[in-house]
Amino acid sequence: MIRTVKINRVIGECTGVKTISFKLGNNIIPKPGQFVMIWVPGVDEIPMSISNYDENGNWSITVKDVGECTNALQNLNIGDFIGIRGPFGNYFKIPPKASKHIFLIGGGIGMAPLKFLANQLKESGFKFKVIEGAKNKNELIYLDELFNTKNKNIEFFCSTDDGSYGQKGFATGLFEEKISEIKHDDLKNTIVYTCGPEIMMYHIFQMCKRYGIELFASLERIMRCGCGLCGLCAIDPVGILVCKDGPIFNLSELNKMDDFGKYRRDFTGKKIKI
Ligand SMILES: Cc1cc2nc3c(=O)[nH]c(=O)nc-3n(C[C@H](O)[C@H](O)[C@H](O)COP(=O)(O)OP(=O)(O)OC[C@H]3O[C@@H](n4cnc5c(N)ncnc54)[C@H](O)[C@@H]3O)c2cc1C
Ligand code: FES
Repeated sequence: MIRTVKINRVIGECTGVKTISFKLGNNIIPKPGQFVMIWVPGVDEIPMSISNYDENGNWSITVKDVGECTNALQNLNIGDFIGIRGPFGNYFKIPPKASKHIFLIGGGIGMAPLKFLANQLKESGFKFKVIEGAKNKNELIYLDELFNTKNKNIEFFCSTDDGSYGQKGFATGLFEEKISEIKHDDLKNTIVYTCGPEIMMYHIFQMCKRYGIELFASLERIMRCGCGLCGLCAIDPVGILVCKDGPIFNLSELNKMDDFGKYRRDFTGKKIKI
């Protein structure tokens, strides 16, 4: 069912990225990692991760302007209406209490579902490290809101490809450094959550496999129905549907996917190299 909601807040995060909030007016409480299908009247319907849900019942999405619909969404203002279906998909499981090290690793707009997860971990008193990677300083999101926090449970590290902020290089390089600081016996009690460009997540997957670290990655595929009907988001050779069985997959599930880190499909179903 599609629900029409009124936008009640718009925040500019950085160049080309805005967070849009609304109330859904039902009793559903979304979980970090889930997504909604957002319908922009007269334009299109597209999948968006939920980037926050607050105690007043406000839902947020964080949108990067990459094409027609995301651009139209960004041009909406407080008081404008959008349509919502969902929430859909599975979610990031809260880490076991015995976890010694918890990492949230996001690349670019992939930070959106991780911010919701970070807020939940913060409220539950977990200690964790966030690694954010972006092309440059202007593309780092949530710096002020979440990471300039005085909360001692959160350690924040960031990298930019051009070195304009944080460490020069990729988030994967920072992650490798942090792994080398972990005692061997603690690796099996380490857990990683990641979302971002698939090539970044593929490198993280390879490191986690090598070091015996549990991993949860949020995958992105072209979606039309968002709820398991059209088959557009199927993954080879297992036939897993990203919208219904995912978007979050653990290391052993990722290990069975021939597509992961290699190719995705366009709207016609044709394979495109990642
Ligand atoms: C589960 C999931 C969660 C997502 N969360 C976010 C988020 O939090 N913030 C965000 O900015 N983006 C998110 N995206 C990506 C977002 O859906 C696309 O950027 C958006 O659909 C592009 O639409 P467009 O009309 O602006 O671009 P277009 O001009 O249509 O296309 C630009 C590119 O966007 C991708 N794309 C287009 N349509 C879709 C579609 N229906 N499904 C998936 N990808 C598509 C394609 O790779 C395409 O090449 C998410 C995607 C998925 C699958
Ligand atoms: S988007 Fe239709 S089955 Fe996944």
